[in-house]
Amino acid sequence: MTFQEHYSVADLRAISARVGQRQGWDFSRMNTSHPATPWEYVSVVRGLLRATDTVIDIGTGGGERLLELSSDACQLLGVDPDPEMITRARGLAADEGATSVHFETGTGADILEQFDVVLDRHAPFEAEVIHRLLRPGGRCVTQQVGEHNMSNVREAFQLEANAGAPISPEMFIHAGFIIERFDEYDVDYVIRDMDSLVFWLQALDGAHSDFGGFDSERDADAINRLLSTSLTDEGVVTNEHRYLLVANKPG
Ligand SMILES: C[S@@+](CC[C@H](N)C(=O)[O-])C[C@H]1O[C@@H](n2cnc3c(N)ncnc32)[C@H](O)[C@@H]1O
Repeated sequence: MTFQEHYSVADLRAISARVGQRQGWDFSRMNTSHPATPWEYVSVVRGLLRATDTVIDIGTGGGERLLELSSDACQLLGVDPDPEMITRARGLAADEGATSVHFETGTGADILEQFDVVLDRHAPFEAEVIHRLLRPGGRCVTQQVGEHNMSNVREAFQLEANAGAPISPEMFIHAGFIIERFDEYDVDYVIRDMDSLVFWLQALDGAHSDFGGFDSERDADAINRLLSTSLTDEGVVTNEHRYLLVANKPG
């Protein structure tokens, strides 16, 4: 299904039921496109990992990205405070026979062990905690969602603009890191059909993102506002704003 010009609450209720809930942090069912980006997170991490590395992934979600890296390091641990995410991640690891990857419920803040690499993709972080989790000479890679992300969607849903950048080199320098790389991109992100749009917004619930999820009754006007400003022949055009930081703990 592509797009109608207008959706009633009943239309949206039917779409919402049809697309169902996200499993873990898996958005692969969405039909989307965007131009080539200056980096791709998993490729960046893969390029930095050594086969002997121990890795911790903070806020691993359903472990989808960490599992993509399972054969690039020696031991990998994913942590997430949401037990449902950890159940999903363990299930995926078992399905894939990924014996080098383990998952535990938590934020990582109470882990005493040190790792060669700390990862954090789109999850809350404290630079001081990351610093403590790294052995001297270790490396941190984090990608964070930028403050201008999906700005026209936030506007249509009448959400407050985000206060400021969620990450800066200074946060990490202050915690004792040396910055290797700090980059930013902001590109168009096209959602090509209505099922994908509703699935996406519904998946971005308040417990796991700074968007409040989707409710057919509450958000019918917002969806129609978004379509009136942002629907093109390609689909609904919004934007993807990301930061990437790679930092070293001096040895
Ligand atoms: C946007 S999802 C990203 C999941 C995964 N890193 C990915 O990129 O696919 C954010 C995850 O951070 C977790 N989270 C929430 N608060 C956290 C915290 N204080 N520390 C670590 N993770 C947290 C959420 O449960 C959620 O699974």
